[in-house]
Amino acid sequence: MDIEKRKWEIMFDETKLRERINELGEQIKFDYIDKNLLIISLLKGSFIFCADLVRCIDIKTLRVNFMTTSSYGDAEESSGKVKVQADITLSDISDYDVLIVDDIADTANTMVHVVNHISKKNPKSLKTCVLLDKPSRREVEFVPDYCGFEIEDKFVVGYGFDFQDRYRNVPYIFNVTEELK
Ligand code: PRP
Ligand code: MG
Repeated sequence: MDIEKRKWEIMFDETKLRERINELGEQIKFDYIDKNLLIISLLKGSFIFCADLVRCIDIKTLRVNFMTTSSYGDAEESSGKVKVQADITLSDISDYDVLIVDDIADTANTMVHVVNHISKKNPKSLKTCVLLDKPSRREVEFVPDYCGFEIEDKFVVGYGFDFQDRYRNVPYIFNVTEELK
């Protein structure tokens, strides 16, 4: 399917994203100022959100690490089977207060899988942060500790969200609707 032949509209423009991510950053700073913050960003979807978020968290000693997970492939629907394609590169995280950052919680299979995976490494504490949350789509119970925006069940693209692994670099989030006739 060709995205150019579909209707789309901007859902969150650059200003709205910047303002909300700034608020999240300030909240996280407040909560983690006296802790040992390790951000784990889930690739690929969260790379843009996380890059902006960490620059809004005024804790210069925070660390960032990455994990690559995959559930969707090129499909628009989650397969439900989450794969850890690349794990974090820190072997001992027992001294760290971990914050897992992803772009979206949809079915939440990804977040629940990653939370279980990271919990086994015994971090000092473990919380989650998503830019978007689609609670109506849950297949497993999950409530993020930090959330940018709660949204309805809409197909979102841009700002890290892909359509067949493209359009991640669009600086705003848009919603793709039905195909044009
Ligand atoms: C997408 C998205 C989240 C996950 C959310 O990633 O980035 O990580 O799906 O869906 P869920 O709550 O239903 O598990 P995807 O696996 O498509 O890979 P990507 O991050 O490389 O786009
Ligand atoms: Mg992802």
